[in-house]
Amino acid sequence: MLPEPTIHSTGSISPDKAEADKRTGGADEVKPSKLALALAAPVALAMLLAGCASQSPTFFRPEGTGSGDVRRLAFTIFAILAGVLLTVWGLLAVAVIRNRKRPESEVKQTKGNLGIEIVWTAIPAIIIVVLFGLTQHTTSQLAFHPGEVQMTVTGHQWWWEFQYAGADFKTANEAHVPVGKTVSADLLSADVIHSFWVPQISGKVDMIPGHTNRISFLPLAEGTYLGECSEFCGQGHAHMRFVLVVESQAKYDAWFADQQRLAAAPAGPQAQAGAKLVAALSCGSCHTIRGTSLAGTLCPDLTHFGSRGSIGADTLPNTAQNLSAWITNPQAVKPGVIMPAFALPPQQLDELVAYLEGLK
Ligand code: CUA
Repeated sequence: MLPEPTIHSTGSISPDKAEADKRTGGADEVKPSKLALALAAPVALAMLLAGCASQSPTFFRPEGTGSGDVRRLAFTIFAILAGVLLTVWGLLAVAVIRNRKRPESEVKQTKGNLGIEIVWTAIPAIIIVVLFGLTQHTTSQLAFHPGEVQMTVTGHQWWWEFQYAGADFKTANEAHVPVGKTVSADLLSADVIHSFWVPQISGKVDMIPGHTNRISFLPLAEGTYLGECSEFCGQGHAHMRFVLVVESQAKYDAWFADQQRLAAAPAGPQAQAGAKLVAALSCGSCHTIRGTSLAGTLCPDLTHFGSRGSIGADTLPNTAQNLSAWITNPQAVKPGVIMPAFALPPQQLDELVAYLEGLK
């Protein structure tokens, strides 16, 4: 038996409304007013800029020469273009307000006014030449200079390798530099195109397979700055980050000397068991730990892994718990990563973690 049709007693529905309901599924159509949209846009922009300025590591808070130059250029161009926009809108508004009540018969049409044509061609041409000059000036300021600290940075899917000139070590995903010293880097790629960028410190330069690009920058304030890959390079692109630690010359020298050392011997029975496991699990087919038999070059050098602040190219803070999660199931942390999962009994996992965290 068919169910009884539901009868509404709230009066009739107009054919137009019924038709509209059919299209919208009965929901009342909400049309935002144009005024609301016009007001919302600048508010949203202001919120966005405020967020950039206060929280995230952006070029709005430069602490290095490259980033400061880029910010200055961006703001200058923005100001010039905002001036153009306001001038055009202003003239338009004046024309509309002053002439809105004039009868059409009074309006004199002019056609082919050579003077006006020349003026409105010349003004944009001058503006474009000025923009070109400013851009050229900033580009020359960003030109490469050999630095007091020189390094080679190699982009990998999806991590960073740093090799300092005159150093025996390679490190990954965390670079240290002294404050107030020019840093220069050769930029390479081991696989696809990446892009080197520390938003608060440097400009950005692509890293291209088979081609060496270069960048130099001058960090002006101590701090820990986020570096990121700014060229889409595959599934792990968003997790291809690094940390640039800008510190005093003394701290930098101490860090450099520490990194030069071979790996620390495992301290205690748990770490000693972990060291044996690292060899048994053939971690050395990908990773290097200098001073041991591990000499793989596909993946980050782990000689001083325990001294780094993060794992997985700044994906997780470097804690024992996070390292356990990473070893057990790297894909859950960083989808696409080539590190295989190791399903180890809890005791072995703890031993492995104890050894790796001890590699200061
Ligand atoms: Cu490397 Cu994006």
